[in-house]
Amino acid sequence: MKAAIINAFGGYDVFNHTDVPDPEPRTGYAIVKVLACGINRYDLFLRMGGVKKPTPLPHVMGADISGEVVEISGDAHGFSPGDRVIVAPGFPIDPADWDAAPETLAPSYTVTGTTEWGGYAQFVRVPTRYLLADRTNLSPEQVAAIPLVLVTAVHAVRTLGNVKPSNRVLIQAGASGSGSMCIQLAKHLGAQVATTIGSDEKTAFVQACGADVIINHRNENFADRVRDWTEGTGVDVVIDNVGGGVFADNLKCLKPGGAFVNFGLVGGVKDTLNFAALIFNQYRILGSMMGTLNELKDGLQLIEAGKLRPNLDRTFPLSQVAKAHEYIDSRSVQGKVVLLPWSEESEPRL
Ligand SMILES: NC(=O)c1ccc[n+]([C@@H]2O[C@H](COP(=O)([O-])OP(=O)(O)OC[C@H]3O[C@@H](n4cnc5c(N)ncnc54)[C@H](OP(=O)(O)O)[C@@H]3O)[C@@H](O)[C@H]2O)c1
Repeated sequence: MKAAIINAFGGYDVFNHTDVPDPEPRTGYAIVKVLACGINRYDLFLRMGGVKKPTPLPHVMGADISGEVVEISGDAHGFSPGDRVIVAPGFPIDPADWDAAPETLAPSYTVTGTTEWGGYAQFVRVPTRYLLADRTNLSPEQVAAIPLVLVTAVHAVRTLGNVKPSNRVLIQAGASGSGSMCIQLAKHLGAQVATTIGSDEKTAFVQACGADVIINHRNENFADRVRDWTEGTGVDVVIDNVGGGVFADNLKCLKPGGAFVNFGLVGGVKDTLNFAALIFNQYRILGSMMGTLNELKDGLQLIEAGKLRPNLDRTFPLSQVAKAHEYIDSRSVQGKVVLLPWSEESEPRL
């Protein structure tokens, strides 16, 4: 099969689109033909060697897989060859952890395609129990834009943020893959949403996701704007995927007793905390990592019902994976970028 392998960690040039052996069947696992594979910012960190879990080289990454079952060994969990499926974007890789609850806290829980080979290939082998039936009626590339950001949004916005009707919520980086899904979900839950963007070209996109207040963080201080919007009260929930550099301003946006939920760190891994502000305002500071299979199923039901939709920016043929990573680094993406392992094309498709 063709795959985009890396033999070393580093820049865009570490990718090699080449022939590798097809995955071998294994009891408890299915072989899935990868119809499309979404890229996440996580993949860029992984490519650069910035992920803590071990990644033996050579490696094939890729967590967001939309595909078709080819072969199943052992318990089929109701699936048959030919079924359209979605692969869970994270699961415990050690079968001893498969019954852990929640599975996201199991020691071997990892993003799909971190330790075992993932979806930047024409075929992938995954535990059959971590397949979900694809009932979305969407194209494979639309589906591949969904799983990781959807499960993240359900866990961060609904479960940890506990966002309710009439809540006011700040969502950072609203045009990002994760931020755009979080906006949609917060709106679906009845909240009013303020969001940040880094260029005015992203305004229409985040508006279409449902954002009520759009703040270009390069032109104005987002905390001042959010304080004005809430007449000085602050928002009920901050959903943050930026991390370092904006923490103090994020807390300035939050009302006493409010929840700060972080799941991302594009701005850096460190910042400082004023304990007096934490104590006297009784903030709840929560770390969020992906979500459970049940949370993903809940999110997919909303997609199937048309309440949430994928935010596909463009596709690249797998052979152009380096260009796709470079495009994500440019910060001009609106939503998600998806790879097509079977495409004969040589250029991106909008
Ligand atoms: N823990 C989890 O479960 C989980 C799940 C999903 C994502 N994440 C994390 O969340 C973060 C975002 O992921 P994503 O896939 O949604 O990202 P993405 O689609 O690549 O978007 C990232 C956006 O963040 C904004 N940004 C703000 N400050 C930035 C900075 N210093 N450098 C680069 N970009 C900056 C940029 O938008 P503007 O230019 O418009 O500001 C950029 O386009 C990543 O850290 C990712 O690892 C974590």
